Amino acid sequence: MKIRKAILTGGGRATRLHPITTTINKHLLPLANKPMIFHAIEKAVEAGIEEIFINTNPGEKDLENYIGDGGHWGIKIKFFEQTGGPQGIAHVVNEAKQFIGDDPFMFYLSDNIILGSLKPMFEEFEKSNFDCMLALSEVPDPQRFGVPIFDENHKLIDVLEKPANPQNNFAVTGIYLYGPKLFFETFQKIEKSDRGEYEISSIHSHFLKNNKNVGYKEITGWWKDTGKIEDLLIANRLLLEEMSETNFSNHGTVESGAQIGGKVHVGLGSRIAKDVILIAPVIIGENCVLENCEIGPNTTIGFGCEIKNATIKDSIILDNTLIDVSLSIQDSLIGKNVKLIKKITNEGRTMLIGDKTIIEI
Ligand code: G1P
Repeated sequence: MKIRKAILTGGGRATRLHPITTTINKHLLPLANKPMIFHAIEKAVEAGIEEIFINTNPGEKDLENYIGDGGHWGIKIKFFEQTGGPQGIAHVVNEAKQFIGDDPFMFYLSDNIILGSLKPMFEEFEKSNFDCMLALSEVPDPQRFGVPIFDENHKLIDVLEKPANPQNNFAVTGIYLYGPKLFFETFQKIEKSDRGEYEISSIHSHFLKNNKNVGYKEITGWWKDTGKIEDLLIANRLLLEEMSETNFSNHGTVESGAQIGGKVHVGLGSRIAKDVILIAPVIIGENCVLENCEIGPNTTIGFGCEIKNATIKDSIILDNTLIDVSLSIQDSLIGKNVKLIKKITNEGRTMLIGDKTIIEI
């Protein structure tokens, strides 16, 4: 049975990424200068998905404005609000019941980034008679995730959400395939967890305890849940490394003397002065001005940024930010409209720093 429909997450509070996510939906944070959720949409489309349903936070229109109706990818995309706001990811799926009807579907957590294709998993699901299929990945910190429990014959018997003492090193990733109807019937039978959420692991545990046919497949390529800043930076690097050289080109003005080469992208309207060094892989967005600085490797700069006198590597800089200071910056995520500038006199530093900002000097 071919899967044509998918539910993608687009809501949530993303408190672990504060303060950045107080003004931008996590799913719109750029990875390789593309909103995170675009990577998820592209993986779904590549696997054969034709209709996507995305949940949004009540009243929030940002995702819809960025993503549009799916025409860009040749598919249909609809948005829906979660009644009563965030109540766990199983609740997100249940809220999309009216769109899924009696069809099989994929549920994908849009903050999960994978490098490989979803096609092999889809193919295995489509030729099996699984009620559900989970994608597993080996991780060093399984206690942060849903963890599969196996019996002595390596048969999957349960899934525990964030166990304190995990039985093994596998995480159940945020990529799930379901046959018709069963998810919605099961949702009626589960209760909220201690953290006040309808857990997706409670659904899978219920399936397994009621002898439903739950398959699993290990993701052999790279998988990352980008819930933390370190993971976002790693995802950014790996996506840049994976991108082929044809995705990088120069649309700006590069003065002679500037050192650039290999996987370096310069957006339209950007000016790279003669004393700039760009170390691949690096993406400079549109309408940026770069002078006397060294950017890269593994760095993406959003549109409208001005960067002077700094060295920046392994970082993500969002739109319209001004950095004009002789500083070496690395492993950093810097938001939109930030000003990081030198003070002309030497009488102490002046700062306006938002809540929960982290500065390590
Ligand atoms: C959620 C799921 C968890 C899963 C993880 C994958 O956790 O509850 O089972 O392993 O996504 O990204 P959360 O990110 O909501 O803590």
